[in-house]
Amino acid sequence: MSPDRISLTRYLIEEQRAGRIGPDLRLLIEVVARACKSISVAVGKGALGGVLGDAGTDGGSINVQGEAQKKLDVLSNEILLEANAWGGHLAGLASEEMEHSQPIPDVYPRGNYLLLFDPLDGSSNIDVNVSVGTIFSVLRCPEGVTSPADEHFLQPGTAQVAAGYCVYGPSTVLVLTVGHGTHFFTLDRELGSFVLTQREVRIPEDTQEFAINASNQRHWEAPVQRYVADLLAGKTGPRGKDFNMRWVASMVADVHRILTRGGVFMYPLDAKCVAKGGRLRLMYEANPMALLVEQAGGAASTGRGRILEVAPTQLHQRVPVFLGSKHEVEAAGRYHAEAS
Ligand code: F6P
Repeated sequence: MSPDRISLTRYLIEEQRAGRIGPDLRLLIEVVARACKSISVAVGKGALGGVLGDAGTDGGSINVQGEAQKKLDVLSNEILLEANAWGGHLAGLASEEMEHSQPIPDVYPRGNYLLLFDPLDGSSNIDVNVSVGTIFSVLRCPEGVTSPADEHFLQPGTAQVAAGYCVYGPSTVLVLTVGHGTHFFTLDRELGSFVLTQREVRIPEDTQEFAINASNQRHWEAPVQRYVADLLAGKTGPRGKDFNMRWVASMVADVHRILTRGGVFMYPLDAKCVAKGGRLRLMYEANPMALLVEQAGGAASTGRGRILEVAPTQLHQRVPVFLGSKHEVEAAGRYHAEAS
């Protein structure tokens, strides 16, 4: 490897030497990254690996979210559970695919951290060969708790000590923050190692690109209707400029585009998801993405407040999400404020 190439391992060791992370957190992130490499291999095999399609035999299985599980959802969950069970850095795990959190089995030593993950985000895209990803969030296990239960995971996003995602696209990219900037690490498939390819990612504060599932338009709340109508009105409308729209329907891929070139991603409250509080999961999707985006100079809001300050009451809680270029997220917030 060339001397200028900084591997994920070297980046983490340097963060440890600088006193920004401890050895346990470093090793924990290395384990998650290793699991992501295995998932990347499985995703990359596609039909050749026999991993496409629904899980279960008789018409498929349904997860705790009431969604149809794909074979790769189940496999990715197993890979992450197995990889993280025995390392000694974690006290417990929670997954979007499991109803309750799991303490680390008694046979293994328990550490001081809690790991939450969405093993395969955007799984409706698996079978059509479009980017999917793994999202993760790391919290501290509360002092004195040796066998954590669901309630111990209910910490606001500001308490996260690390967050990241791995996008399985044309290349596999791990995006990480340990609270000191957001960085991209691209997987070198020949060497099997993640290499730092962009340090200190910055999201432009202004943008002319937005992402929303426009088929839900008739279900949106009034302020979102007004905000998106003004974006669509373009140069001659109240915003005075033309906007472009993109929607991959994999949050990892949409957020990756926004970290790379700016934009605003929205999954607002709508009449279909109002009873659940929103569409996207606070603990597995909104919080880790909000931390990554804020660390890159962007903003992340529910439309009515900062995502990272939402006090969670349930492990699988959902929230409305507006994140990305700072000025545009603030603009969406103003439409909500004016409506109330
Ligand atoms: O929560 C899972 C997810 O697949 C996200 O990754 C994505 O942004 C969203 O749902 C897609 O929603 P829709 O099916 O409404 O396009």
